[in-house]
Parts: sequence; C-alpha cells; structure tokens
Amino acid sequence: MRDCHAGSHLSGENLSSAAASALDAADPLAGFAEEFHHPCDSAGRKVLYFGGHSLGLQPKSAAKMVEQELADWRRLGVLGHHEATRPWIPYHERAAPALAELLGAVESEVVAMNSLTVNLHLMMVSFFRPGATRNKVLIESSAFPSDRYAVVSQLQFHGLNAAKNLIEMAPRAGERTLRTEDLIERIEREGSNLALVLLPGVQYLTGQSLDLEPLIAAGRRIGAMVGLDLAHAIGNTQMRLHDWNPDFAVWCSYKYLNAGPGAVGGCFVHERHARNLERPRFAGWWGHNKADRFLYDPTFNPIDGAQGWQISNPPILSTAPLLASLEIFERAGMPALRKKSIALTGFMQRLIEQRLPQLVEIITPSAAQQRGCQLSLRIARPAPAAKRCQEQLTAAGVIGDWREPDVLRLAAIPLYNSFADVFAAVDILTSALRA
Ligand SMILES: Cc1ncc(COP(=O)(O)O)c(C=O)c1O
Repeated sequence: MRDCHAGSHLSGENLSSAAASALDAADPLAGFAEEFHHPCDSAGRKVLYFGGHSLGLQPKSAAKMVEQELADWRRLGVLGHHEATRPWIPYHERAAPALAELLGAVESEVVAMNSLTVNLHLMMVSFFRPGATRNKVLIESSAFPSDRYAVVSQLQFHGLNAAKNLIEMAPRAGERTLRTEDLIERIEREGSNLALVLLPGVQYLTGQSLDLEPLIAAGRRIGAMVGLDLAHAIGNTQMRLHDWNPDFAVWCSYKYLNAGPGAVGGCFVHERHARNLERPRFAGWWGHNKADRFLYDPTFNPIDGAQGWQISNPPILSTAPLLASLEIFERAGMPALRKKSIALTGFMQRLIEQRLPQLVEIITPSAAQQRGCQLSLRIARPAPAAKRCQEQLTAAGVIGDWREPDVLRLAAIPLYNSFADVFAAVDILTSALRA
C-alpha cells in the first residue's frame, strides 16, 4: 500500500487553526488515530475521512487477526474448530463482553451474527405477532429503506399491508427532526392497535439521537413490542439497553464499529425473553443448546438468551476484524470516546455556523444528547449546484457522503479524527461553497 504523507489541507494559520491544534495536544485519545489505516488521495495525501457513519476505517490490528485465522485454517483444517488459537466454535462469543459494554446490556443478551436486515427479519419473526386488532407497526417516516422493506414484507407475510398497518412518523411541518412527545402521543393514541414500535437509536439521515428510554417505556406501556435499529448508534452514543428494556435491537458493525465492509452484525434480545419458548423463531443448529449441539438431537432446544436466535455457525473471517476493533474500544472506553465526540462534533458545528451562515443548514439537533458524531448539512443551493459542492469536497480530499436531494453527512469520529481534521475539512467546505 502506498504511504500517505502528511500534506496539509490547511489554508494558512489563524486562531481557529491554533485552537484546533491546542485541543489535539490536550486530547488523551489522540494516539488512537495511529491505530487505523487512513486512505490517501491520488496524490498520496491522507484524506480527511468523515465517512465513518457509513464505513469505519480499518484498524491496523485487523489484518493480523484475519491472518491468524487463515494461518490456523491452513495449519489445522477442520481441527481449528477446537484447536485454533481462538477456537472457531465459540469464536463469536469473544465479541459479547465488549458488545454488551457498548450497549449497556447483560452479556447473554447480545450475540454477533448475520447482518442487520437479516437480524431484523429474525427478530420480527419472534416479536411481530399481529393479531386481529393489534396489527400495526410504527416506524419513522424517513426510515432507512432496508428497514422499511423488511417491515412491509413482514406485514405482507402476515396478510397485512403498509397502507393500513404501517404508521410512519414524520417531523412536524417546518421541522427536521422528531419530537419525543409526538412519538409518545401517537404510540398512546394507537394503544392496543400497535403490535410493534421500531425506532432507530440514531436516525441515519438527520443524525438525531432519539430519547430512547421514554419511547421504549411508552411502547411497552401500551403492550406493543419495541425493537431498535442501532446501526448508527452502536459505538457512537452511550446506551443502557438492559435498563431501558426494549424487546430486541439489531445493528451492523461496519460503521462506528470499524469491522469492515459486510462485517458480521449483531442482535440484542432482552433477558426477559431469554427462555421464551412460546414465541416462534426461525431455528438453526447454532442456536441449539451447546452441550448437545453435536449429538444431533432432531428436536430444537435453544440456548438461553440471544445466542438461541443464531442459525448458522459464525463467519470467522468477518468476525476477526470486529474482535480487533472491539479491543480498541475496550482500551479507549466509551465514556472517554463520547466525551471527545461531543467536543469534536461541537467544534465542527461552531466552525460551520461561524463560517457558513446562510449557505448551510445543520439539520442535526444541536444538543449533544440529541446527536452522536454525525452532522447532516442541508446545502442551501439548487440540487445540481449542491451536489457539485460535494463532488468538489471529495476532489479536495474530504470524504463524507451525499443523500439526495441535498444532504451532506459528515461524522467526526473520536477514535481517528482530530480537531485539526475538522478545521481543515470545514476550511475546504467553505472554499467549495463560496466558489
Ligand atoms: C439504519 C440502517 N439500517 C439498515 C441498514 C442495512 O444494513 P445491512 O445491509 O447490513 O442489512 C443500514 C445500512 O447502512 C442502515 O444504515
């Protein structure tokens, strides 16, 4: 791989630049950036990577973890299931302690398995059981399309349809994000019609972090099941899932968890369902009681807890980078990461507000508890010109992403972005928008 040189994107010294450097100098987590591979542009300059909400950077330790498994497979063949350096049969269990820590869950409530949408379907098989009247699902109006496809296809599977059975909660007219009180009011109004409330931890488009605890409580109070899509929350915001008491949650590991494209996802099933044999589930041998899994008993007897929802044996090569990344999270600690994240994203917000008034509308809430790392910027220009800014940004070495028709998403990641990165990126954004 080509080496990046430090080539500066900064356009001259000024107070803000000096402030950024001072913040970096005082940052106890600054050293972690060195533990990641940073992509370079065609001139060999390190890009300013603000795309971690889409695909996290590669931890340098990931290659060694994957190579270890390849070496053990070469050396041991099938014996690796028991004799690999990290035996493959319980391999995925190594992820559980750190995942539980990130989610505020009990270890038996979490499992690394499959990918997000697959897990969402598996969870809905168990926790979306519509009846004659309790047969509606509530989601947010701009839910990630895959979630909506999954929900609508589950409705159809049960002979229901989106027109009658899907409630899509939109922000109030003239507002960009959802209000907790509006969601609660609607949940209470639907009451016994509502079978499932499915909400994001952090909304993918706006970056809004929902106030999950009262929302989950409202859903449970009226007797609905409550599920969460934590794709943009895990490794980003701090959660206490066990205490907040949803029925299930699902996530992917390629965003803030830096486990690589298509990495193994995960699932949370609350402890109160650990031995719930009443609910149907789609079963497979990996969910069967570990003690007699290899006795090939024809009758399925699930493992207690989230692992009982597994179907197949774990994908070792896509779980290895997750273990590498989780080890970094364990060392850095989520409270310290969150503290830096709040400072970093706040710094980005203030710079944008100071330098780009009228040109950019930040649609992400400004209160720290209502957002994670990501800022979603509405570029106040007609569509083709707005998108050109994003293209200029990419050409100038700033990686974010674009959501049609006019939203630029940038995430300042506390593990590998610095205050100087933020300053430089806003500098480039300013040039692109003032051009
Ligand atoms: C919020 C959200 N939900 C679901 C998905 C789909 O994930 P997967 O392709 O892993 O099923 C994504 C992917 O980016 C996402 O951002």
